Amino acid sequence: MATKLKDIEEWRASPPEKAPEIPLRGHRMEGYRYTSKEFFDKEWEHMWTKVWLLLGREDEIPEAGDYQMEEVGPEAFIMVRQHDGSIKAFYNVCHHRGARLVFNDVGFTDSFICPYHGWDWQLDGSLKSVQDPEDFPEGDPCGKLTLTEVPCDTFAGFIWINMDPDCEPLRDYLGPVVEQWEAYEIQNWKRYQALTATIPVNWKSIQDNFNESYHLPTVHPESDTSVDDNYKYTQFDIWEHHHRMWMRSGSPSQRLRGSEDELLREPLISTLQQYGLDPEDFKDDPFSTREALQTAKREYGEKHGYTHYENLKDHQMTDTYHYNIFPNFSVSLWADGFHFLRSRPHPTDPNQCVFDNWWYASQPEGETGDVFTAAGPVPRDEEVEHDVFEYGEKSMGFAIDQDLNVTPGQQLGFRSRAYKGAYLSGQESRIRHYHEVIDDYIEGRRPEKK
Ligand code: FES
Ligand SMILES: [Fe+2]
Repeated sequence: MATKLKDIEEWRASPPEKAPEIPLRGHRMEGYRYTSKEFFDKEWEHMWTKVWLLLGREDEIPEAGDYQMEEVGPEAFIMVRQHDGSIKAFYNVCHHRGARLVFNDVGFTDSFICPYHGWDWQLDGSLKSVQDPEDFPEGDPCGKLTLTEVPCDTFAGFIWINMDPDCEPLRDYLGPVVEQWEAYEIQNWKRYQALTATIPVNWKSIQDNFNESYHLPTVHPESDTSVDDNYKYTQFDIWEHHHRMWMRSGSPSQRLRGSEDELLREPLISTLQQYGLDPEDFKDDPFSTREALQTAKREYGEKHGYTHYENLKDHQMTDTYHYNIFPNFSVSLWADGFHFLRSRPHPTDPNQCVFDNWWYASQPEGETGDVFTAAGPVPRDEEVEHDVFEYGEKSMGFAIDQDLNVTPGQQLGFRSRAYKGAYLSGQESRIRHYHEVIDDYIEGRRPEKK
């Protein structure tokens, strides 16, 4: 037993495994990648139609007939709960003369009746009835035509689809992400923020931004108060498709060493108090708050029903993991928060994208306090409406507004004749790799079957 306890302590104290370095080819990332319709079309044809896409949420369609509809570029997909409890996904298009079947993003139906001529498509995609079935020279379409189904799977409570009928299994595609996310039990987490805006930047600019922390000291200077050095004390991992960044959090940045007596600031002070710690005790050594918080948070979790903490290591009590799931999903992941950051290509314009800025939080039984999302506190029992708007109409939360203040200007710069491509730092290598994977797809080197 003693040995077992020691093993648990060692496991809890161990850092995340560092991914082996992989060679990068180098990439100029010229402006046309963000502005050219021709390049946009190549991405669609060779990349978007071959990769797994995080599209829906299982708990939004609990009953047979519940469906969710999501658009990606020029396409739209219906994800619908079947009578046997499984989920199927279909292109949102009627095979009579091409009308879209549904336009609302969530709903319930017994069958999908096309708004144009009333063809009646069942939940399983089969065609139940049409007007005047005897009047078709090719024969009654019922029994002949079905909605076009796409591969669909679930992971972490999300519904993923792939337009490639020969795609690799979702879990193979996600690779090391699967085991890492399972520890958090994200399938049980609930959405507390759902802000969606059309933004005047290419979809990749959003993901580039979330693929580097080089902009933290300049765009988010206040992050120094509770996140460690964005470069020297941050671990970057590059896998075959996806990326991870491990940021030590819960104490001031070691960039600020030398001015110890001024370092304990908000929001760190409030976080310490939340877990019963007195900020005064850390005045002489503010860099020790991280470990103290880890211990205090685990104890708090045991009392308040945070059962998934058993699966988490000590550093996960405080630290930020940031994942980039190829091609269009990034997430900052904490012990209790999942900051969902997805960019979807605009249907026709490479200079715009649809940006989803959502938040999910864990649901411990003994917790009654507000959920702190990127856009502010939300009462734990609140059902959050999906808010869809245009860039600039509303705030998307303090930090995301900071990002969105700079990226549209970058999109303008991408159109300049003078811009010859990016000049990247080492800590921006994930951006370099990200664009290499896009090129791999465009040039026909993906997906690699294992
Ligand atoms: S286009 Fe759907 S029934 Fe005619
Ligand atoms: Fe940022």
